[in-house]
Amino acid sequence: MTGFPLFPEPASTIANGVDRLFLVMIGISGFFAVLIFGLILYFAVRYRRRGDRPRTPPAPSRALGLEALWSLGPLALLMGIFVLGATVYFDDSQVPPGAMDIYVVGKQWMWKIQHPEGRREINELHIPVGRPVELILASEDVIHSFFVPAFRVKHDVVPGRFQSLWFEATETGEYHLFCAEYCGTGHSRMIGRVVVMEPNDFQRWLESGDPPDEAADAIDASFDPSEAAEFVADDTPSAVEGERLFADFECRGCHVEEDRGPDLAGRFGRTVTLESGATARFDEAYFRRALLDPGGELVAGYSPSMPTYQGELTEWQILRLMSYVEGMTPSRVYETQ
Ligand code: CUA
Repeated sequence: MTGFPLFPEPASTIANGVDRLFLVMIGISGFFAVLIFGLILYFAVRYRRRGDRPRTPPAPSRALGLEALWSLGPLALLMGIFVLGATVYFDDSQVPPGAMDIYVVGKQWMWKIQHPEGRREINELHIPVGRPVELILASEDVIHSFFVPAFRVKHDVVPGRFQSLWFEATETGEYHLFCAEYCGTGHSRMIGRVVVMEPNDFQRWLESGDPPDEAADAIDASFDPSEAAEFVADDTPSAVEGERLFADFECRGCHVEEDRGPDLAGRFGRTVTLESGATARFDEAYFRRALLDPGGELVAGYSPSMPTYQGELTEWQILRLMSYVEGMTPSRVYETQ
């Protein structure tokens, strides 16, 4: 156990940076609070009114050295905080290449989680130690917030969009998982645990599943055990379900068999040129927008013939379609952009 005694144990690669920033800011604020209140008290006593004696002569109107000190000193201090904060922010917002994707959907009142390989969990997240993990976050209803204090990560989960959050656990163990946004009567039950495992144990877990009683306990403790049990019962890999949806919703006709829509294979993660001349990165957020508002960011060279799937697809269906499209292998070679 390391780290500052009042904080939860730091268990991710960014945790120590966040703690350092926080302690520096507390230190600076504390120093100035003591300085200012100390001087107020001292001056109140030192310069208190003593009878009707004439006051001391006024101080000189300019003291360049002093003015420079109180202007440049705070400037340097604030720039220091900015650099420290920006460093943590960039570390926290840039997903390292090769991160493992996991889908997380908040619903009143539980966290539903699916690993692309198929395994699903309720209010529990199993991950390997020492490997970057990217969560693709979505909500089926209201705003939730995914919060793991030991990792120092918290991200709002806003309905109507996909968001991403990444971390890399540095210590095996179990950590608290919270919903940190009041989301209705069952909000306080939207809690769980993150289990960080050795890579081999994780691989075994992924293939064989939790010790069944542990998973069953989490389901029993969840807000709606029957819905939770139904969710985890199916462990079809997300891309396999996505492929089925891709056929059912007739995406295949235009995007694979004919050339009415762009070939999606190998496109994920690249930059696409739009009809408007602008470019967009083909990422999770773009994929979702392209399904729900196909004309909004039309790929250059195609007519706006695709219907919207607004209201037709659940968040889970969109995630699984995405999982399939992400893994489609290119049948043609694209110019690298
Ligand atoms: Cu979900 Cu609070």
